[in-house]
Amino acid sequence: MSNEAKTVISPLSSPLRGVARVPGDKSISHRAVLFSAMAEGTSQLSGVLDSDDVRSSIEAVRALGAEVDLQKQADGSLAGTVCGWGARGPAQPDAPLDCGNSGTTARLLMGVLAPWDVRVEITGDESLRRRPMRRITAPLMKMGARFVPEGKETLPLTVCGARDLRAISYDAPMASAQLKTAVLLAGVFAHGTTTLVEPSPSRNHTELMLPEFGVPTTAANCTASVTGPCLLKASEVAVPGDPSSAAFIACAAALVRGSDIVIEDVSLNTARIGFTRTLERMGADVTLRHKGAEGKEPFGSISVRHVPNLHGCEVPAEKIASIVDEVPVLALVAAHARGVTVFREVGELRVKETDRLAAVVEGLALLGVDAWEDGNDLFVEGQPGLRVPSGLVLDSKCDHRLAMTWALAGLAGSAPVAVKNFDSVKISYPQFLSDMQRLAQ
Ligand code: S3P
Repeated sequence: MSNEAKTVISPLSSPLRGVARVPGDKSISHRAVLFSAMAEGTSQLSGVLDSDDVRSSIEAVRALGAEVDLQKQADGSLAGTVCGWGARGPAQPDAPLDCGNSGTTARLLMGVLAPWDVRVEITGDESLRRRPMRRITAPLMKMGARFVPEGKETLPLTVCGARDLRAISYDAPMASAQLKTAVLLAGVFAHGTTTLVEPSPSRNHTELMLPEFGVPTTAANCTASVTGPCLLKASEVAVPGDPSSAAFIACAAALVRGSDIVIEDVSLNTARIGFTRTLERMGADVTLRHKGAEGKEPFGSISVRHVPNLHGCEVPAEKIASIVDEVPVLALVAAHARGVTVFREVGELRVKETDRLAAVVEGLALLGVDAWEDGNDLFVEGQPGLRVPSGLVLDSKCDHRLAMTWALAGLAGSAPVAVKNFDSVKISYPQFLSDMQRLAQ
């Protein structure tokens, strides 16, 4: 069975050393493609991540009438132009929009389509069709959009947009940048100021990028607002490297004795680099250097030097949004550290591409490490000097972040690890394995 394919990952032969560059940020790439598609005129994009998830956004906006001319560059990124539908609005597509594995594409599209007179069915792969959508449809319905079937939690769902959306003030039940973005994008076309308040700060790429497209936006203290109606104007976006991909290299360097690496030109947005703070709290040697800003996104380098004797730490609930995609790989680092690490209030991990809490507990148990859930908290009891059992098979559950986490268990471990469905790395970081092997030469 091809979907049970196993990839054997052997321990790295040398420490990780030198300069690394990671592909473009996935969240910023999605937004660059979607906002350009919504805009009047032709936007110039560079550094766009070429991965399955971003391709889902590109294909969706093409089906909605945007002209996308993004070409593969020598560094593997995509660059070129997107001519948006602007004042014309999106075209009525003749087939459902298949968002593949991409929650960001599906959820942001709901906000993109809500203010227009279209009926568009949104669907996705098996994993995406299990993920909750009411968190997005509920506020958009308050604004005047409809979804068919009404009240259904999962895809496929048909967005029935409306031209006269109401601006709302919405208290988000969870810190989710996808929810925040969907509401703000619909709010761009509503009359008045749409405000979203979140319980703790989620990634703020939308608030930073919308003003670049001419949208009056404010953001402070967990509150973001846009004032509409407003037509987005074409812009230029240079996408910095993805900190969520950089996290795997940083964690590898923290685990592999003798490592000393610099990851260049990566986003240093504080809403995204919580993992550097968590590694520091575990005793790792991490240095950030700010170099400048792409648009309003700060970027620079992250250096990590291996030091022995990592120790456990506690990550408080209000910091979880800043490491939401890095919890699995940080849990693997915690598995090698002395003492217990606690990640508070990580219930959101249950509704990612797979149930990442259950998957982490299960995978670490196979590694011989005690990890457990208590309510919404995740505990990992580390084992310095952890030995990988021979013949170990770990399951990615077709989840890209788990595929890379379990691959790292093999790369940084004492024996090879076979990872089921490792090729799901193509969702966010297709060249993950070759990058890691090159850094260890
Ligand atoms: C994302 C937001 C996060 C994150 C996802 C990308 C985004 O999801 O986990 O990988 O680009 O807005 P939530 O909004 O569900 O927290």
